[in-house]
Amino acid sequence: MPAKTIGVPVLPASELEQGEFCRPGVDLEARPLAEEMGANIRWQSIPGEYARLDAAQLDARIGAARRALGSRAVVLGHHYQREEVIKYADLQGDSFKLSQHAASQAEAEYIVFCGVHFMAETADVLSADHQQVILPNLTAGCSMADMAPTDDVLDCWDDLAEVLGEGQVAPVAYMNSTADIKALCGRNGGIICTSSNAQAMMAWAFEQRPKVLFLPDEHLGRNTALALGVPEERIVVWNPWKRLGRLTEAQLREARVILWRGHCAVHTRFRVHQIDAARAQFPDVTVIVHPECTREVVEAADLNGSTERIIAAVNGGAPGSVWAVGTEINLVHRLQLLNPDKRVFCLDPVVCPCSTMYRIHPAYVAWVLERLVEGAVVNRVEVEPATKAEARASLQRMLDVTAARTLAAARD
Ligand code: 13P
Ligand code: SF4
Repeated sequence: MPAKTIGVPVLPASELEQGEFCRPGVDLEARPLAEEMGANIRWQSIPGEYARLDAAQLDARIGAARRALGSRAVVLGHHYQREEVIKYADLQGDSFKLSQHAASQAEAEYIVFCGVHFMAETADVLSADHQQVILPNLTAGCSMADMAPTDDVLDCWDDLAEVLGEGQVAPVAYMNSTADIKALCGRNGGIICTSSNAQAMMAWAFEQRPKVLFLPDEHLGRNTALALGVPEERIVVWNPWKRLGRLTEAQLREARVILWRGHCAVHTRFRVHQIDAARAQFPDVTVIVHPECTREVVEAADLNGSTERIIAAVNGGAPGSVWAVGTEINLVHRLQLLNPDKRVFCLDPVVCPCSTMYRIHPAYVAWVLERLVEGAVVNRVEVEPATKAEARASLQRMLDVTAARTLAAARD
């Protein structure tokens, strides 16, 4: 839980809640919030009138609120948002692109972030001081980010320094982490990465220190380290529930990459047998998966990459091509709609949205926007100033290293 966020803290999302919207073959169409609230998860309470509005009523009220706010509010939407929400986004993107947008939208007073809590925190860290970031539903967390609680990570960091000595390890935190963890990276010479730049950021970290602590996603960390040529036997997993991560001092001394034991409940659903089944049915299929999938799945796939890379690959595919995609179902569904000349389907036959992303229902968007029109800010996500400064340092490093590498690549 993000201890140093000002205001109402987000509830940690348990994995049991993650599966609550999984249904075989059910479509993804939004229902009035009052009906969706029947799902066995925690929802932020909201004035009852919003929960009863149907899609057309919500559409009209959101439209009116946005017209009233004009350029004072910008709506950012992550690609995993449902269709009924992403349509309101002024800017859509993966977590990297949205962090760039947040850093460059200085004219809007309010940034309404349709995504999850760590993304809203990041927007607050990167935006200007006069801007306020709003997360429409504060129960939209991320179960992976919650797998790296601050105290456990600080204990791990101290243990590593004790065994290995100071200055041996560069912390590399995935964007899907709390502002506290990003701050730890900032004050210890570390960096943030997203799935679109993890290899470049880990390579940068190895230029600074001999070892890397990668957190919180074990799978993205392993896939990235292997892609950079780190031998498998020099990659170890830190179990935060066990003394010294359930590792020996010798293992830690030998390791080049120490992976935090965390994972995404959505992406670890994909399995090699699903890839085999897709290939058996469509011999010409191209299988593309997100690097939060397990190593076995990433290795069995034809391609892997961040959300933006998946979108670019499918959109750029030849007419008639067949794509089996291993990522969040709302995005796969959108790719199907946008590419009617291709066959695009999800590797997993069960429709299983990310339950925290899915908690941004249009009723919450209407609620926060109408309150802004009235001059009231609800659901502000605000990072405490000292944490913010340190988190900004690690995020800025990521943006700077990315810009420098893009420039160097353009020159070559
Ligand atoms: P991207 O970095 O591809 O946006 O992914 C974010 C995320 O939450 C994936 O599960
Ligand atoms: Fe977190 Fe996974 Fe949902 Fe992404 S898809 S927000 S990593 S739980």
